[in-house]
Order: sequence, then C-alpha cells, then structure tokens
Amino acid sequence: MCGVFAISSADINNAGEKVIEGLKKLEYRGYDSWGVATSHEMKKEVGKISCATVVFKEDSKAIGHSRWATHGGVTSENSHPHTYKTVTLVHNGIFENYLSAKNRLLQKGEKFLSDTDSEVIAHLIQEQLDLSHTPETAIQNVSQSITGRFSIVVMIEGVEEIFVARRGSPLIIGRGKGELSKTTFIASDIPAFLEYTNVVNYIDDDEMAIISNESVQFYNLLSGEEIEKRNIEVSWKEEVADKGDYNHFMIKEIFDQKQSLMSAINHTEEEIQEFISVLQSGNGVYMVACGTAHKACIAAEYYFSQIAGRKINVVPASEMPAFERFINNKTVLFAVSQSGETADILEVLEFGKKRGAKVISITNVESSSIARISQNHLPLRAGKEKAVASTKATTSQMALLLLLAYADNNRLNEGRLVLQSLASSVNDLLNPRYEEYIKSVAETLHDCRNIFIIGRNSLFPMALESAIKIMEVSYIHAQGFAAGEMKHGPIALIEKGTPCIVLGCDSETISNAMELKSRGAKIIGVSNKNNILFDQWLKIPSAGTAISIASLLPIQILSYYLATLRGLNPDMPRNLAKSVTVK
Ligand code: M6R
Repeated sequence: MCGVFAISSADINNAGEKVIEGLKKLEYRGYDSWGVATSHEMKKEVGKISCATVVFKEDSKAIGHSRWATHGGVTSENSHPHTYKTVTLVHNGIFENYLSAKNRLLQKGEKFLSDTDSEVIAHLIQEQLDLSHTPETAIQNVSQSITGRFSIVVMIEGVEEIFVARRGSPLIIGRGKGELSKTTFIASDIPAFLEYTNVVNYIDDDEMAIISNESVQFYNLLSGEEIEKRNIEVSWKEEVADKGDYNHFMIKEIFDQKQSLMSAINHTEEEIQEFISVLQSGNGVYMVACGTAHKACIAAEYYFSQIAGRKINVVPASEMPAFERFINNKTVLFAVSQSGETADILEVLEFGKKRGAKVISITNVESSSIARISQNHLPLRAGKEKAVASTKATTSQMALLLLLAYADNNRLNEGRLVLQSLASSVNDLLNPRYEEYIKSVAETLHDCRNIFIIGRNSLFPMALESAIKIMEVSYIHAQGFAAGEMKHGPIALIEKGTPCIVLGCDSETISNAMELKSRGAKIIGVSNKNNILFDQWLKIPSAGTAISIASLLPIQILSYYLATLRGLNPDMPRNLAKSVTVK
C-alpha cells in the first residue's frame, strides 16, 4: 500500500506540484494522508490528495507519499515524508523489527516526532552518515538491518542525488525523454509518470539506485556491485480514468462488464494451451489469492472439479505458510490478482520459487510484480479498475478461470461458447432499467444492520464474495454461507424481517431458503427464474456453468446503491486501499 512518487530533474522547476499530480494517480494505493518534500519545503496533510491544491517554491527535486496507515494513526505527524536532521524519506512497506532499533535510538537520546516505523529508518540512515559512511553505504547498511518488505526514496540535505532501495514493495524508475531527457521519475506504479514517459527500469528486490540529473545507476543492495539495467518500453497508454456520465468509478466499472468479459476470454488457443500445459505438468496445484480474488479462486475450485475432474487447492495467500511443507519442485503455484502487487501473494510465490515450484498467474495489471515473476502469465485485460471494490476484474478472473477449466478438459471451444453467450446476455442485462430496479431494492435494505447471503456449489463462493462487496462499500454487516450450512448454527440469527439473499433457485437451495423464510427472513432471490418464496427478485440470465459470474452482477449494483443511499463514497471506502502491498 501507500503511493510513492519522486522527481529529480534538470529540466523542470515545479517538481513539488508535479509530484502532487503524480501522487493523485496513485491514490488507490492509500488515501489516509499525504505529504511532499522538496529540497526546501515540506507539506503534509490528513485526507485525500485528490483534494489538494498546493503551490511550492521553485524546485527541481521532490519526493512524495500518499499513505495507508500501518504504524501510527492517521495524523499529519505520521504522514510521510519523515525527516531526521539531514535525511528526508518516504517509505512503503513494513519495517518489522523497527521497535528494537527505535528503543536503541531512544536510549541514545534521539527524539521521534511520529509513531511510524518509517521515521526510524531516517534516524538509522543519519546514524550511518554520522559515522562518515557515504549515503549509498549508509542506505545499504540500514537496508541489511531491516526485516520486512519495503521500498524507500531518500533525499539528503546538501546531496544532489536521490537514493532509492527496494525489497518486496514495488518501485519503478521512469526515464524522461525529449524535453525531459534530464528528468527521472521514481514511483510505486507506472501511472504516476506515464504522461511523461513509457520508458522504465524495474528495480528488483535487494536493489538500489542513485539518481542524479545526469544519470541513474543501479546497485545490488547487498553486495554493492553495480548492475546494468535495460530500458524497457512499456506498451501502456495512459488510460484516462474518466467516470464519463457515471457518478462513481464503481458503477462505471460494473457497466464496463458489457465489454470486459469478452476481453478476458480472447486469448489465443496457443496462449491458453501453453498456460494449461504448465498447470497440468504439476503434481499438485495451489491457487493463492486474497479477498475477492480468493473467492474467484474458490469458484474455480468448483469449475476445475466439475468440468475437468481436477482437484485444485485454494488457500488465502496469508494462510499459505501452514501448507508450505507441500510446496516443492512438482508444485504449481497459481496466483490470481487484480493488481498483481498483493504482498501476501508475492511472499508465497517468492517462497515457492526458492523451492523450485512453477509459478503461473492471471492479473489485470500486466506489468505487475506477480506477472513479472511468473513463468507463465495471462492478462485479464479488464481495463483499469479504479474503485477499491473489485467488480469487472473479478468477473474477468472468473471467466478466464472457467475457460481454463474447459481447456484443461480439451473443451476450450465449448468453454468459449458458454462465456460468449454469457457476455452477450450481460450486455443486454446491464441497462438503466435494471439498474433502477436494483436501486429500488436497495432502498428497502439500506438501513438494515445485517444481511445474510446463501448459495450452493459455485454459488457458495459467490455468497462469500457478495458479503465482501456489501460490507466494504456500505459498511452493513454481511455474511455469506453455504446454503446447507445455515441450519448448523447461523439460522439462530434470523429474526422477523432479516434480509437473506438467496443465490440460485435449485430445489435444495429453495428448501434452505424456506427454512429461513419460516423463521421470518425476508428473501431476496437472485436467479434466472422467479420463485413464490422470493419477496424480491433480482433476475439474472440463464448462464449454465457460468451462473456464478451472472449472479454477481445484481449484487455489485445492489452494493453500490446500498453505499450511495447511505451517503458513502463507494470508490474509496474507509480503511481500505486498492493495492495491498503490506502483509
Ligand atoms: O489486487 P488483488 O486482486 O490481489 O487484491 C486482493 C484483495 O485485496 C481485493 O480483492 C480486495 O478484497 C477488494 N477490496 C475486494 O473488492
């Protein structure tokens, strides 16, 4: 999490303002507070950087940060950059062993202005400088003493260069061109500088760079040896994040599913077969993902079981350490992620690689860290997803996973037909009348305290995903269950009028819905057919094996309206960030 952006230039003198503009494009990484330091000034504020209009004195160098709080509350003191004597830095990641370092420095009589782990890094670098080490050695020594994932960007008073180092958290250098040939950009993600350049150097783990107006030099952070880096031209166009006529990105992205499902399944037969052959080459496949992507993987567990007869092990990435003993050179680790930067997943993949496991992935962000460390990767091509709540990337993940399950059973064409038919029905379904109707259902629910969702088979993970969607944007407590599980405990929570969303209308699910209705529940059915039990009905198209994907659409719209009717901004829910780059 956290967006980092910095500029070093001999071409421009408004680096401060430019860093603010770039950080606005990284706001999805964290929006609790922000800060920018130039060589002469520091500005920090609590709140979203998108609301900031700040003027700096002329300067050709600036570093900035948009924060998602980990250590220390959301205050201006805890916002980055952090300064200690001559050192000013921004940090993304977690300095796990910071407390012991901080205690040692406190005993030396040093004072801290914030509660962050990041400020301690500034003190440690200064300590090394005071021992007469060069800035590069100081940063090398400090980096070696830190455990955890991090990326840092450091300015030192009286020193022209900017220093950066990375282990785990993303950091990319943008090489200015044309009129900006003496300008270098440093960012945690490419969009921050894409309007100026598409020529990049990826800083990999345990690497550092020294950036001056004339050059960028790369070094191994551990050995200090210089490294040659290729300039890479990324094919990204700057996707203008434009809401068009929509009020929020979330609803725009829900409607983008009219096209995104088709893009997800448009890979060539060769690309799909190549991917599947790696998946088939393993002796045990572990799918790792987090949050919503993890629920898409559980759906895939059903697809692969029922279509391809293959057992896939699905584990939330953060829980994978418990299963590490099963990872070896015969294992296939299959990562699924929108951002491709999720720290919990990256950690599993890095561990797996060390054990010789094969790593394959599907991500939406094509140049992401997960995509780059994978031996085989398929992009989702859903287009930029800006709202924190994942919608179109989720259904693209599920569509591609369903297609892969068909391909695993040599029925790729059949899979394509199922998904093309789904894409065409989704195109018809997503229209203003449908949206209005779901809004009217949301009007009856938006002040309830709890919502339960049930589903069977591949609709069970959709019940879990529906709960995430409702909770994260509307802050209404929602919980998903396997339909048959309600009677084993949760049914005790049902009272007169408790809203229960029932995904599917097969006879067994309807029996479970009946058990809820008999105890007073209000039943909102999501299915292709109406049922006498339903108090309200959210219609979906008949979609065969793709029913799980179809079922999500009305839930996404419902979640959106539950949020907006409660006066909330669904694009940036409290306490969340789009890209979760800390463990
Ligand atoms: O970028 P990723 O797909 O790896 O992100 C995983 C989760 O953080 C993400 O799905 C999260 O649960 C979303 N807020 C859900 O809408």
